[in-house]
Amino acid sequence: MLKRFWLWLGRLLGKTLLILLFAALAGWGLGEAYYAWKFSGPVASDEEIPPDEALLTRLIIDDAIRIVEQHRDNTRVLRDAHAKAHGCVRAEVQVIENLDPALRHGVFSEPGHTWQAWMRLSNGNAYPQFDRVRDARGMALKLLDVPGEKLMKSSAHAREQDFVMFNHPVFFVRDVAEYRSNFAAQAEGKKALAFFPSWDPRSWEFRHLLIALKTLAPAPESPVATTYNSIAPFKLGPLNIKYRVVPAPQNCPPYELPEQNTDLPNFLRNALYQQLSLDRSAACFELQVQRQNPEHYMPIEDTSVEWSEAVSPFETAARIHVPAQDFDTREQNLFCDNLSFNPWHALPEHRPIGGINRLRKSVYEAVSAYRQQRNAADQVATPREPERLPMTEQPAH
Ligand code: HEM
Repeated sequence: MLKRFWLWLGRLLGKTLLILLFAALAGWGLGEAYYAWKFSGPVASDEEIPPDEALLTRLIIDDAIRIVEQHRDNTRVLRDAHAKAHGCVRAEVQVIENLDPALRHGVFSEPGHTWQAWMRLSNGNAYPQFDRVRDARGMALKLLDVPGEKLMKSSAHAREQDFVMFNHPVFFVRDVAEYRSNFAAQAEGKKALAFFPSWDPRSWEFRHLLIALKTLAPAPESPVATTYNSIAPFKLGPLNIKYRVVPAPQNCPPYELPEQNTDLPNFLRNALYQQLSLDRSAACFELQVQRQNPEHYMPIEDTSVEWSEAVSPFETAARIHVPAQDFDTREQNLFCDNLSFNPWHALPEHRPIGGINRLRKSVYEAVSAYRQQRNAADQVATPREPERLPMTEQPAH
């Protein structure tokens, strides 16, 4: 009797598992088919600005300032995002010699030209935490002494061209409206539920929840060992593009980073220090661009959609060389903290486009100005001009 019961229970469990497996496969297949249908066909190559965007942007700025205040580190006000830096390092960005003439715009107009730059490497979270915690990792690049009028009329940034990225190819929201509703829900303590704003299944964002989960990834072995993406689109002269920075160890003398102790809270800074300062070994990247082909689903107004590399592969526009250097000093760390990166510190040829970029214009400016003003009293030293910081080693090229 008991044996028959166990056999019956075994069969029932087996059948339930099979049904669940089938349902999961069918769900996955349906999802793939749905998105293949939804994300097909031509898209606009111009920006489309919703009427309520300005109001939503103002509300988002208020929320961001509130968060900055909550995450104060002792007396200093940190960034609202990417608060923890692994370091700011000097870099050189050299436009490649044989760049396609169609890509020669803005800072890429002169093949062979080398720009001096600052590179800030960071964790994405709003307050500093152990590096082993799952997170996005950021890279912000500031090219210096760039002539020409910029999109933001601030004299402090008049000669800068910034590139601001993190290491996932897509963003967890599509536009400003979704950012606002998601942000507001998260502020109320909702996590996964922030992606399900109402009982109406049409408002559920399973795909965006998956993106958010994937964005919070384990740390790379070093901040110079991961690919950083613009995620949002930009102009490059008449073209619409996305850009990214990929590690290019083949452009540098061979180097193997000794295994790091990932239990240490700041092991990403340690890895950078080990390579650049102790082992005196340079790091190399390539800056690449991907052109929009509006005949395919490569939207301007949806940062949650990756542009297909099969349709439009990335093309290298410049090589980035991070020379061996000493960067981990109190003075340079404070200087780094006080830097402001903003994708709108840009030449018109590199104009940020799309809703998420329009939002970033006001938010970065407001948060940066707020923390700079709040920190002014705390500053123990006035940051020196980047160009005048000590050059510990001459560039290799
Ligand atoms: C395409 C999507 C985005 C990317 C790739 C990105 C990347 C980054 C990175 C790398 C930083 C650190 C910059 C530094 O090192 O100083 C940063 C800072 C920041 N991000 Fe974003 N971000 C994106 C979208 C957003 C959005 C939608 C918002 C909010 C509306 C936002 C708000 C901020 C703020 C407030 C800061 C700090 C600015 C400062 O205090 O200087 N970001 N972001």
